[in-house]
Amino acid sequence: MFWSLLFAIFATFLRSVSAAESVTVYDSETGLTYSQNFALYKADGRGITFRIAISSDVSSSSAYDAVVQVIVPNDVGWAGLAWGGSMTKNPLMVFWRGSSSQPVLSSRWASSHSTPQPYTSASYTVFKTGTKSNSTHWQFTALCTGCTSWSAAGGAIRYVQPNGGNRLAFAYSPTKPSNPSSPSSGITVHDVHAYWNHDFNTARNSGFEAAVQRLLER
Ligand code: HEM
Ligand SMILES: *[C@@H]1O[C@H](CO)[C@@H](O)[C@H](O)[C@H]1NC(C)=O
Repeated sequence: MFWSLLFAIFATFLRSVSAAESVTVYDSETGLTYSQNFALYKADGRGITFRIAISSDVSSSSAYDAVVQVIVPNDVGWAGLAWGGSMTKNPLMVFWRGSSSQPVLSSRWASSHSTPQPYTSASYTVFKTGTKSNSTHWQFTALCTGCTSWSAAGGAIRYVQPNGGNRLAFAYSPTKPSNPSSPSSGITVHDVHAYWNHDFNTARNSGFEAAVQRLLER
């Protein structure tokens, strides 16, 4: 009895530790199942929730669209997601709140560890559905075209693989961009960055194309 109780407590502990890896979340508002990771930026528990949904039809080493849903505490100045898991030479999705509190998504690319520049090979369409805010958080849901494939050094094409884990990275700054209403605004360097392994296999949705079409029409 004692040992089985102890084992149960230990097993629960292990589960909560491994919960730092991807979990699967169904969002009824957008009608998609997302693979989710939480990226901590403050020791008090504050962090950004990154959710990704893709189609079940995509094959490995191909370019495909992704829906990304991000939940952001209101104290974030700007934050970014690096689709290739590092700052340089991969598509960066940088985001903040604009002048009317609407989300601003800025597609960027960094060739070195200095301010990333606008990157036109990836584009984001923010959906009305799944984009909202309250007194503590804001969230957006967007379709990205061009985030899962890019040209690396030497002309090689790199892919975010749809059937397993991919290393992603994020960066956080408490400082607002200098010109928040412009997607090409200047930003100052992050305070925090981190990496994780994001499971894309559990991000696959069989009704992806139809759900995206519905979200685009709303
Ligand atoms: C003004 C804008 C930015 C500046 C000046 C900047 C500068 C830097 C510098 C100097 C480092 C090296 C730190 C070290 O070696 O300890 C670094 C690392 C890093 N930055 Fe940035 N950064 C900027 C924006 C971004 C953005 C938008 C992202 C992601 C969306 C990002 C993600 C990262 C990551 C993941 C690292 C770790 C090293 C690596 O993966 O290359 N940074 N940054
Ligand atoms: C505030 O909004 C966020 C993002 O949509 C949500 O996760 C959170 O549950 C909301 N909090 C309250 C108290 O409604």
